[in-house]
Amino acid sequence: MQTPSTRFFVIQSFLEIKSRKGKIPKPPAKVDDPRERGFFTQLLQGMVRHELLLEEELTRRIRRRKKLQGAVSAIIKLGFFELLFMERIPARASIHQAGWLAERFRVSAAKPLINGVLRKFLTELDQGYDPEKEHHFNIYESIPAWMLQRWEKDYGEIKARNLAKASNRFPGIHLTLHFPEKRNLVTKEFSNLSIAFEPHSLIPEMFVLQDGKGFLKTEAFQKGWISVSDPASVLFMLWAEPFFQGRVLDVCAAPGGKSLKMASFDKVSALYLNDLSHSRMKKIHDNIQRTRLTPSGMMQSDGSQLPFRNDQFDTVFIDAPCSSTGTIQKNPDIKWTTSEKELLKNLDLQAQLLDEGARVLKPGGTLIYSTCSLEKKENQNQVQLFLGRQSGFFLKHRSPESTLAQMDEWMYEPKPYFQILSGPLWGGFFGVALGCH
Ligand SMILES: C[S@@+](CC[C@H](N)C(=O)[O-])C[C@H]1O[C@@H](n2cnc3c(N)ncnc32)[C@H](O)[C@@H]1O
Repeated sequence: MQTPSTRFFVIQSFLEIKSRKGKIPKPPAKVDDPRERGFFTQLLQGMVRHELLLEEELTRRIRRRKKLQGAVSAIIKLGFFELLFMERIPARASIHQAGWLAERFRVSAAKPLINGVLRKFLTELDQGYDPEKEHHFNIYESIPAWMLQRWEKDYGEIKARNLAKASNRFPGIHLTLHFPEKRNLVTKEFSNLSIAFEPHSLIPEMFVLQDGKGFLKTEAFQKGWISVSDPASVLFMLWAEPFFQGRVLDVCAAPGGKSLKMASFDKVSALYLNDLSHSRMKKIHDNIQRTRLTPSGMMQSDGSQLPFRNDQFDTVFIDAPCSSTGTIQKNPDIKWTTSEKELLKNLDLQAQLLDEGARVLKPGGTLIYSTCSLEKKENQNQVQLFLGRQSGFFLKHRSPESTLAQMDEWMYEPKPYFQILSGPLWGGFFGVALGCH
């Protein structure tokens, strides 16, 4: 059975997130058992993912909701979440733990209230209460109304609703194997540790874990042979491989998932890695040294003012900072930490990165731009504006002999753009290759 202390830290972190509109933190060091760390993340992410629904259920059941102490409402919301979404936890255990949490948070006086609300909720569920039928779509799927409206505008109502649903499901943990020669060692270690995994159906170098328990402590993860990546971004790199060649500059490289991939591309002869963030660049260093291609240069600089003369690279890759709305599945806090106004705060920077990338690109070279955003303004529109400013550039098409024909059904935008919208097993990703005359 799960130890009670994990839930204590979940409530503590949830209250912190609410008070400072912060990101979901890693489990605290005190939660040291790998399984408990996984449980912590599952509960906390779940509470944040379903926040609108949990709040609505609470408001319906407590007359003076605004007067309720933060800890009390958080404990009830955790209880609702477990009763609704954590089938493997017996309902009795969830309700019992809620009472224990009330004591730990020194709100014992509210124990009867917490107990009563959760018991009544359980009875209603047993009698067929279905929150999906009771609530407005955006409340049930816990998507801010403004975000849903933006998706409806960009993709139409049906796709927007599918996106909202997919953004709300945890897609499982996908690992990329960066060093094919380590495959046997990695699978042997997973088997020895009883970590259940299966190969990804489309991407040979990916594994799918049934749950995340234990893999963080494996030698394979610690040594960087495997890393967590979203299938959509890995598919993008496979799509883009034919465009990477010669001297390559990765402008926004950290933490290095895609740099590791491009270091294995045959047509890449020299690789230069850059990022604005020094601490994030440090993470790449060790891993990249083990690849086929040792980087020719690693630097920390502002990609909108690169320390290079004009016309230096055959390929410039800009994996731009963006709203990251394609990663909401794994980072549900994006729904609540970002306002509509803030969502597009990187637009100017993206345009500057594109223009600076164009400056250091050789004539005949390729500028590759990508984001993990679902926002057309950061994707297609950004590219169209660039093409309007830079008359020497044109959209490149994926080579017809590409082996990735099977993924066409996932693609949203007709070629030459690459766009995967978030689905049940992958996040959203956008990319494009721009040729220079
Ligand atoms: C989407 S992430 C890149 C992910 C990376 N390509 C990978 O595959 O692991 C965007 C990166 O852009 C970097 N960044 C933000 N502003 C930048 C700037 N002005 N110049 C260069 N890098 C920047 C961030 O530090 C962050 O590491």
